[in-house]
Amino acid sequence: MANGSNERGRFGQLGFIFAAVGSAIGLGNIWKFPYITYANDGGSFVLVYLVAIALIGLPIMMAELVIGRRTRQSPVGAFIDAAKGRLGGRAWGAVGALGVLGSFILLSYYALIAGWTVYYFGQCLSWSVRGFDLEGQALGEAFGGFLANGPLQVGFHALFMLVTVGVVTLGVRRGIERVTKLLMPVLGAILLLLVVNSFWSPGFGEAIRFLFHVGPVTGHGLLEAVGHAFFTLSVGMGAMLTYGSYMTSRQSIPRSAVTICFLDTLIAIMACVVMFSIIFSVSAAERAATFGKSATILFTTLPRMFYEMPLGVVLAPTFYLLVGFAALTSTISLLEVVAAYLIDQRGLSRRKASLLAGGAVFAFGIPSALSLGASGALSTLAPLGERTAGFFDTMDYTVSNWVLPLGGLLTAIFVGWFFSRRASSQELAEGHGDVGRWYFVWRGVLLRFVCPVAILWIIWAVIGGRSFA
Ligand code: PHE
Repeated sequence: MANGSNERGRFGQLGFIFAAVGSAIGLGNIWKFPYITYANDGGSFVLVYLVAIALIGLPIMMAELVIGRRTRQSPVGAFIDAAKGRLGGRAWGAVGALGVLGSFILLSYYALIAGWTVYYFGQCLSWSVRGFDLEGQALGEAFGGFLANGPLQVGFHALFMLVTVGVVTLGVRRGIERVTKLLMPVLGAILLLLVVNSFWSPGFGEAIRFLFHVGPVTGHGLLEAVGHAFFTLSVGMGAMLTYGSYMTSRQSIPRSAVTICFLDTLIAIMACVVMFSIIFSVSAAERAATFGKSATILFTTLPRMFYEMPLGVVLAPTFYLLVGFAALTSTISLLEVVAAYLIDQRGLSRRKASLLAGGAVFAFGIPSALSLGASGALSTLAPLGERTAGFFDTMDYTVSNWVLPLGGLLTAIFVGWFFSRRASSQELAEGHGDVGRWYFVWRGVLLRFVCPVAILWIIWAVIGGRSFA
């Protein structure tokens, strides 16, 4: 191994929390969660999501942290190490490989969407200065035009990847820890400001009712909630495992995992309050006409609503800056998974590894960037059937519906049934003290039964053709 454990980076205690929370909080919280909550009629959907976080996301996150810290390896080496002398042996390395591949693919289109927030940040700055002049459909058309503009798509994708590579090149402590420690508090402060501001919005009351009312939830909604729990917590593809490998032994895994899950959920709910207060400020008829189930509210309708609000000139650019920051701390963790693999398994230097990984992700993201209208062939290709048209959609479908649930399932099964009981209980107690009966709840109940059953059900539903992406 080119990099012995002494040379590997190590997070400070607070640094680990910031980095892991930064990974978890991202476009999933601020962009995806509000729109799927809206599409699933709020209320009960949110409740199911909370249950999924607690019973599925949290235990699997702990499992990833346990393997990562125990082996001090990136995903492939970690699974191989952890499975030594166990049934299956080296074959478990494939679970790690699935994670590295999943991170690679996810990053290739995640950074693309992240690039849009940079572009809209710039747009809003100019609207704030020049005045906002887009009426009615114009905003939607402008967004469509932007998506179909190949050079712009590739350019902003490149920009976002460049910044990500820069941070990862600086390393665990000097790069990831420093940047997330700086950005996460700023992000929290901006979001808090936006939440406080929404108290005065006419839609605030309605937004809260929508979020917390109890109503029916569809089977599809259940699936979507469980699937999103993985995505939003960054579990199922080795990101938490990799960060766990840099965690100090003085830190408690259960306590850290609970903190990460709590903060991730808090931010998701806060983002909903902000978005829905804006959305419910317009009449029901206009809402129906503009929103539907659209995933693009963030770019097609929100800017106009911002500019109708008091202080909109300040709030609009601030908001896109916030989304960009949140996305950056997630893209960093995704690139780190791939780079750490190259460093640990292939013996590359950190610099070479992050450049190579970043360059490859960028190149692989180009077809996604061109599949939103710029290239007819890429925009319409549908190898998995009509449900997913275009390269971008196909990638998203594959990662969200297959890689994440499968990675989570195999991780739960591995730690629940195969990984040494002594090792996992020791690691859980390390930096925490004896967890008592909770160990049985975690491994004996949740990892062994609850998680696999719930995830197998998702996979069965996906095979049955019920996408929840
Ligand atoms: N959790 C991130 C979000 O909510 C996405 C992510 C998934 C990041 C998996 C890393 C690994 O946006």
